[in-house]
Amino acid sequence: MKPVKVWDPAVRLTHLAMGVLVLGAFLTAEEDDTLPLHMKLGLGLLGIVLFRVVWGFVGSTHARFSDFVKGPKTVLTAMRAMVRGKPDHHLGHNPVGAVMVVTLLVLLGVVTLTGITMGLGPDWSGPLAMSKSTLHAVKEVHEGAAGALPVLIVLHVLGVILSSVLERQNLIGGMVTGFKRADDGHVEPASPGALRLTAGFLMALVLAAAAVFGLWRVLPVSEAAAAPALLSTYEREARAESPAFTGFDAARGRTLYFSEHPTKNGPTSCATCHAADARQPGKSPVGKRIDPLAPSANPDRFTDAAKATKWFDRNCTQVLGRNCTALERGDFLTYLSSL
Ligand code: HEC
Repeated sequence: MKPVKVWDPAVRLTHLAMGVLVLGAFLTAEEDDTLPLHMKLGLGLLGIVLFRVVWGFVGSTHARFSDFVKGPKTVLTAMRAMVRGKPDHHLGHNPVGAVMVVTLLVLLGVVTLTGITMGLGPDWSGPLAMSKSTLHAVKEVHEGAAGALPVLIVLHVLGVILSSVLERQNLIGGMVTGFKRADDGHVEPASPGALRLTAGFLMALVLAAAAVFGLWRVLPVSEAAAAPALLSTYEREARAESPAFTGFDAARGRTLYFSEHPTKNGPTSCATCHAADARQPGKSPVGKRIDPLAPSANPDRFTDAAKATKWFDRNCTQVLGRNCTALERGDFLTYLSSL
């Protein structure tokens, strides 16, 4: 048995990154405040998966799908050999492990793509027009696939441990160091040349980076993108409210912000609580500090569509005695964004 370099650095790093990003995505999945981070992690994960898939065609010998993806017959034969406790020695992934590798990659693709679809959908105020029921279906798939991940990951780890025992070599260590032991008679197939590997690496990198950066700009992950994303939701709603809608107007939003209305607490405007200068902190009637409402002073503002809706409903009802229209919300946000 001699040590042979099997896993190139790209395989090992993407493997590690997938583990870390999946864990991070799970830890940030439930809470509203961690949603932007969850989306960033998911987007990173999509990039890693894309890179790994391309690398599976242009990478080093054992990184390639053609090296380890085998037909059902070979998989069954390898499974029987494992059950007998005498697995054939495969220098790359064994055919059974390969089924898991492909399943995990497909599942990660489904989870990240459905997650991004949700981010682009109306629920999270993105630019993708989708009906509520479609979005709901996408959400179900996202959560179902994400729920299957831990189960498969546990099976994957158990499979690796079992194979390590059967093959009498440390496969987990191999994925860290890149080395595995080969039979003495093993002849390693010629690796693709350095030039082709470099070109393949750059291609995989550029494709994955282009996808991530393109989506980064349209998804409400960055605070700068969030307010305009919410604005496009209001715009759609305003158009539905009135066919005569031609656009939002900061001046009308300003008027709404400052106009006083009689309430049970006396004449009240939005500025009563939110400060005349919306870049400054405001104060509630009981003296509690309210963080600035203008996104330029408080990047967290209007990054969460559900929160914005809740407060528009509450505060408009309190001040105006009725809900604000989509036109008013859009004008209001346009005014605040101009500050
Ligand atoms: C009685 C005090 C009060 C008045 C008057 C008031 N607000 Fe608010 N507003 C609050 C508080 C409290 C919050 C939530 C605390 C926070 O988010 O910092 C809030 C939050 C909001 C948010 C949430 C923004 C986000 O983070 O997404 C919007 C939108 C909003 N207000 C709109 C209005 C509008 C429009 C008016 C005028 C029609 C108005 N408010 C008047 C107290 C008030």
